[in-house]
Formats: sequence, C-alpha cells, structure tokens
Amino acid sequence: MSQALNIRRVAGALGAEISGVDLSRPLSDDTVAGIRRALVEHQVIFFRDQDLTPAQQTAFGARFGPLNVHPFVQGMAGQPEVMEIIKEPSDRVNFGGGWHSDMSFLERPSIGSILYAIEIPEFGGDTLFASQAAAFEALSPGLQKTLEGLNAVHSASREYSSQGHSAQKRGSMQVAEADGYVGEFVHPMVLVHPETGRKALYVNPAFTLRIEGWKTRESKALLDFLFEHSRYEAFTCRFQWREGSVAFWDNRSVWHFALNDYPGQRRHMRRVTVDPWPVGAVAAKTDEAVA
Ligand code: SIN
Repeated sequence: MSQALNIRRVAGALGAEISGVDLSRPLSDDTVAGIRRALVEHQVIFFRDQDLTPAQQTAFGARFGPLNVHPFVQGMAGQPEVMEIIKEPSDRVNFGGGWHSDMSFLERPSIGSILYAIEIPEFGGDTLFASQAAAFEALSPGLQKTLEGLNAVHSASREYSSQGHSAQKRGSMQVAEADGYVGEFVHPMVLVHPETGRKALYVNPAFTLRIEGWKTRESKALLDFLFEHSRYEAFTCRFQWREGSVAFWDNRSVWHFALNDYPGQRRHMRRVTVDPWPVGAVAAKTDEAVA
C-alpha cells in the first residue's frame, strides 16, 4: 500500500522535510516513486524519527539504484556498502568537512547519498547543503554558455592518496590511502539532470582538479570563482540532526558540508550511496515504463 507523503519545504533554493513514511518497512512502488520525485524536485529531502537497521537502510537505498562500495572507506563487516561515519570525542577532524559532491571522482559518480543519524552531539554537527542548480541559474547567460561547453577533471588524489592531504586518516574512520595512482575522470562542468532536465554546476572543491584543456592558472581562476559563487548562502539549507533523522541528497545537483563544531563530543552516522543504474538497465526500465 502506498503511504501518503507530506512534504514541507525548508528553504528557498532546496530542501524539503517529508513525513508520513516509515522507511524501515517495504515501500510500495508508488511511495518510492513519490520519494524519488521529491528528491529530484527538492534536491535534498529529510525524514525524522526513523528507526533503521543497516539492512533496512540498505533495502531502502537499493530501491533507487545499485549501492556503491566506497573504494577507500571501509564498510561495515558483512555489509560493505554501509559506511559508518564516526567522529569520536578525541578526533579533531571529521569526514566530509568541506564542500563536495560524493564520488564525483569515479567514472560513473553516485546519484544520491542516504545518511542516517545514530548518535548526535548535544550541540553542533549540522550538515549544510548547497543547490548547484541554483548556483548555475544565478550566473550570466554568457558564462552559462561557456561552462556548458567545458569539461572538468575529477580525482580522489587530493583527498585519499598518500600524496594528498586526507584529513580523515587522522580520525577514527577506517579510511585507506590509495596506493599510487587513483585515476582521473572527466565530467561535464554543467550536468543536465536526467530526470528533470534542470542544469546544475558539476565541479566541487574536494575532487575537481582542473578544467580539461586549460592551463593551470586559467583553470584555477575560474574554478576558484565557481567554488566561491556556489556556496552563496541563498543557495543553501542547513539540517539540524536528531537521532533517527535521515537526509537523502541528489549528488548530481547538490554539494554538502559536514560541520565540525562539536569538539569533545561523539557523532555517529551511517551512509549508503546510490550509484546510477547500469546503462542497459536504464533502457530496460524505460521500456517497461513505456509498455
Ligand atoms: C558526508 O560527506 O557524507 C558526511 C556528511 C555528514 O556527516 O553530515
């Protein structure tokens, strides 16, 4: 049976809180379709008061696409696609503490991430989100047109290689340093959302190294401008977690930033990350939908 979704927007650029759904239960196709519509429309959606085992979170995530196994972050024993994101009271750095889009360093980046809060500090530990669709739309038509013709090179090298400055490695999280070359992948600087047709900037400070075919200092100048522009407060929303909260964001059009403002306290989250369907599977699903 489909569950009626109540949707309340939380900010002008992106973000909506959804009530009336229990994510631990098997969901009807209608409910999943409603959640998916809300996700692509609002770019990040939030649920409160959920109670999810790792298997239930995995089952929910798998309704939206195959789940990613992170190449550098150790997953849970027996459930490699579930990442524990933990900051212990003695840790100084946190995971995700900078603006980024998850997994843009892969050849086929993630479409969405689903983060579930298990233990939340007494104060702080919010997550910020920034709409890269709103950021694109606020640019002049001239710059939009230029960016639409450009590609950028993404890599995990800065965050995860031994040459890089991975902050995570000093914390409690099981983050492996890549041994040697981690690969570079080229993506368009403007993504046309496959489900809405809305355009969004697709570069981020963590994983975008340079603009393809540009000299380093040309590339740096434009990327620095975009990184500054794209985090403008009016493009953002801020989520204050409670235990049992879930955030589900669209990595194709959203940056996020985990604030590190809760020294001496513990924060424990679990994330599953949704990959795109393999190309053949998309075609098959589309055909089924048409038939
Ligand atoms: C992440 O980057 O996925 C972590 C976000 C958070 O812990 O708030």
